[in-house]
Amino acid sequence: MSFGFSTETVKEGKIKVVVPKLSAYVKKPSDYAPSKAPVFYNPTMEQNRDLAVLALQAHQKLLGREVSVCEPLTGCGLRGVRFAVEVEGVHRVFLNDINPKSAKLARFNAELNKVEDRVEVTNEDANLFLSRNAAPKKRLDYVDVDPFGPPVPYMDSAVRALRNGGLLALTATDMAPLCGVHPRACLRKYGGQPLRTEYCHELAVRLLTGCLTMMAAKHAIGVDVLFSHSVDHYIRAYATVSYGARRADKSIQQMGYILHCFSCFHRETVTGIASPLKQVCPSCGAKLSAAGPLWLGRIANKNFCSLMEGEAEGRGLRQEKRILKMLSLVKNEAEAPVTYYAVDKVCDKLNLRVPALKTVLDNLRNAGFQAVLTHFNSRGFRTDAPANVVAEVITELAAQKA
Ligand SMILES: C[S@@+](CC[C@H](N)C(=O)[O-])C[C@H]1O[C@@H](n2cnc3c(N)ncnc32)[C@H](O)[C@@H]1O
Ligand SMILES: [Zn+2]
Repeated sequence: MSFGFSTETVKEGKIKVVVPKLSAYVKKPSDYAPSKAPVFYNPTMEQNRDLAVLALQAHQKLLGREVSVCEPLTGCGLRGVRFAVEVEGVHRVFLNDINPKSAKLARFNAELNKVEDRVEVTNEDANLFLSRNAAPKKRLDYVDVDPFGPPVPYMDSAVRALRNGGLLALTATDMAPLCGVHPRACLRKYGGQPLRTEYCHELAVRLLTGCLTMMAAKHAIGVDVLFSHSVDHYIRAYATVSYGARRADKSIQQMGYILHCFSCFHRETVTGIASPLKQVCPSCGAKLSAAGPLWLGRIANKNFCSLMEGEAEGRGLRQEKRILKMLSLVKNEAEAPVTYYAVDKVCDKLNLRVPALKTVLDNLRNAGFQAVLTHFNSRGFRTDAPANVVAEVITELAAQKA
């Protein structure tokens, strides 16, 4: 079939799909080919799509029945066709894209993989598409919002299109606002203040899930975050929704602020959107900065991570090793304290040599504190030790190394 532009066939997961030939759209080295092509296709998001397959399969098994899923911004249909082919118990997949060329290619890819009887493709605005499904008997079990930039414009209609207990997956690629480079844009879009701290990627996940919590609460819907991760240039969050004003109130109770001292690394959480905020660092007396309001609850669920791990094994995923490593890190940090330290950042500030991360963790544990790695930063760790103890332990180790 001719699509009127250069294409090629690629393999991902268990499927073969026709995608735009990205090399044909690169005119100079700085060109970002996925956004230049007539239909969006980004090979570097394979891991994102792999994890979506695992999360959807875990969700379907927890529900224990057939599920209907949708991808309102599908590009070439790769993610949605993978759901139809690779996830057991998926009986209906609704794909949509505002770009008519995308819809045509997505339809073709469904046929190519022989799932056209279960995959329906439409070509309209994502909010219209989601709103058409936001009615009893039409709602879905899984909605995957994977846009350019922030998912916020689609969040309200995505929540309304979910059945009670449904799973919402959100990608956000607008890391500059979320990580505090453009704080006013973050406040506008996500309703919370970001901070340029070493744990800004965790703050990004908490701002995104906080925004979702407040948006869902308007519809008397509560949220529970089951899994989230941060990779390179984007973050991703998976949350279930549950109907009921009391559930929504309970979710709002998990909103609050993170206070941070840029002088001494001290950080603390303040629960409650309307709580008064301390201005002065209790540790060093410097001025405290605040991030939020944001989600202070768990950003991953251990049990859900284990289910995803189980699903990852033996599927023949190209990135199985990398995925299993990430799942294990996310699982291990799921119940650890909010925020993390980065050993190199502490050493930069204190003008120290950087000791091995493992020895920092060992020494904190030997001193009776919890200390675990984080998937957010390869030099990061979470601990319940106060910031002054973290600084002391690192200073001591740096001196030994010298
Ligand atoms: C990042 S791409 C999607 C990639 C895809 N989810 C994947 O995993 O390969 C975003 C897509 O959203 C589509 N889009 C942008 N605005 C839209 C809107 N208002 N309604 C529906 N689709 C839209 C674009 O045409 C593009 O294909
Ligand atoms: Zn301080």
